[in-house]
Amino acid sequence: MAGKIIIGSDHGGYKLKKEVIKHLERLGYEVLDKGCYSEESCDYPIIAKDVVKEVISSGNKGILVCGTGIGMSIAANRYEGIRASHCTDTFTARMTRAHNDSNVLCLGERTTGVGLALDIVEIWLKTEFEGGRHQKRIDMLTGN
Ligand code: RB5
Repeated sequence: MAGKIIIGSDHGGYKLKKEVIKHLERLGYEVLDKGCYSEESCDYPIIAKDVVKEVISSGNKGILVCGTGIGMSIAANRYEGIRASHCTDTFTARMTRAHNDSNVLCLGERTTGVGLALDIVEIWLKTEFEGGRHQKRIDMLTGN
């Protein structure tokens, strides 16, 4: 088992989320899907909250998908300890793990094709945090 990933989407990200789940399972990850469970309209802040609460309590990484990835990243980054990264390319996916120790990846179904999204997921998952000077900066990300 490669580890456990907490995942969620709204209706705008539902189809891409299903593809990401299939890919994660192929890679050997256990996946906990916190919803939504159909393409019926729903509210991304509620799903983001459910996923980040689980990320914070479990220490596992999370993936959030909406139409653009932006609403999910705004919602997720409101929570202390969450470093959510909206990625639309593989370079930022790598850098946000290496330098920001990103613990939530946000994707947009309407902006990023499935093939690229799955590459982003794989690179984000396999890249290690570099620590050092970057840890000092992350330690500054508390309070207001
Ligand atoms: C839903 O239509 C859409 O607004 C949502 O998925 C997301 O893109 C918000 O940022």
